Amino acid sequence: MTNAIHVTSPSLPPLAEFIPYLEKIWASRWLTNNGQFHQQFEAALADYLGVKYVSVFTNGMIALQAGMQALRITGEVITTPFTFVATTHAIHLNGCTPVFCDIEPESFTLDPEKVESLITPRTTAILPVHVYGNPCRHERLKRVADTYGLKLFYDAAHVFGVRQDGQPVASWGDLSMLSFHATKVFNTLEGGALVTDDPALKRRIDFLRNFGFQDEVTVVAPGTNGKVDEVRSAYGLLQLKYVDAEIAKRRRVADHYRAHLQGVPGLRLMDDQPGVKHNYGYFPVLVDAQVYGMTRDALYEKLKANGIFSRRYFYPLCSQFPTYRTLPSALPGRLPVAERVAEQILCLPIYADLGDCALGQIVDAVRAGKRNCI
Ligand SMILES: Cc1ncc(COP(=O)(O)O)c(C=O)c1O
Repeated sequence: MTNAIHVTSPSLPPLAEFIPYLEKIWASRWLTNNGQFHQQFEAALADYLGVKYVSVFTNGMIALQAGMQALRITGEVITTPFTFVATTHAIHLNGCTPVFCDIEPESFTLDPEKVESLITPRTTAILPVHVYGNPCRHERLKRVADTYGLKLFYDAAHVFGVRQDGQPVASWGDLSMLSFHATKVFNTLEGGALVTDDPALKRRIDFLRNFGFQDEVTVVAPGTNGKVDEVRSAYGLLQLKYVDAEIAKRRRVADHYRAHLQGVPGLRLMDDQPGVKHNYGYFPVLVDAQVYGMTRDALYEKLKANGIFSRRYFYPLCSQFPTYRTLPSALPGRLPVAERVAEQILCLPIYADLGDCALGQIVDAVRAGKRNCI
């Protein structure tokens, strides 16, 4: 078998360029707590993303939890079941109840037309996800949130650098959370951020990120430890220099897939959305077993047997995990679109250094479909 091809492979900056940053950290002995690289990283991120305020976090999960606390979200939160489980866990761990709402068949994001019917007197927020970097229908969601006085908090883990009609998608809503996990388009090994244009909210978030400390002797809230150290801040600063090249290389992979897989019967690819500058973090396809001649799971296994490790993001749905499956909104049949998509979805490998030879192998294996079934 040839070398394994994984669904993703992180890009690291040149090691030689990182050493001088490390030398500075070693010389200063300032390792964490708002050091110079931390401050520079937040400013550089805000500048790159085109947003007002960024608070970096040790990972996206902690950022989600702190963001919910900062917005004082309580009671019920309307959210998507078609996401990474961190979204749902953050709601649960903050003492709230997730209320699952179905998704749209084209973009796989929360269906704004189905949100209103789920609102109860206990609802305080909507927590949608720009899944695979597809922007949610923000104007519609904002109208519902504004009408009912709900907070709109985006899980924006997948939209680093994504813009719609020139607007940074990460600037939408009351708050947005980004993830810089190793598998993401922009990584700081582990990492995340909250983005807001409200200075008072940014201040509160920064207290919550550091145990609730306002100053040496004042703790204003039961905060967490979500801080980022100097090493990862410096790494992030350096990574920012390369992120445009990263996205361009990923785009090349997406174009290759589209050129070679478009039109394969039973396979649905996602096109770029009009007016959207995508980041090509994922390459999902939908497998219609009847037409393709093989189920999604059979294709997944077949690829695996050929050393190609695709992923079934996001299967099972969050609403199907034991903690959540007895919730009224999670019961079978309540989320028909999400249930169907979760059965058909497969994310093909995509990363900057995915070479032509590997791409050829993947394309051949997918095109061959049932004929090559192992
Ligand atoms: C949609 C989504 N939300 C939340 C997270 C959690 O982010 P992190 O891994 O940085 O904690 C991730 C990714 O890991 C994600 O894909």
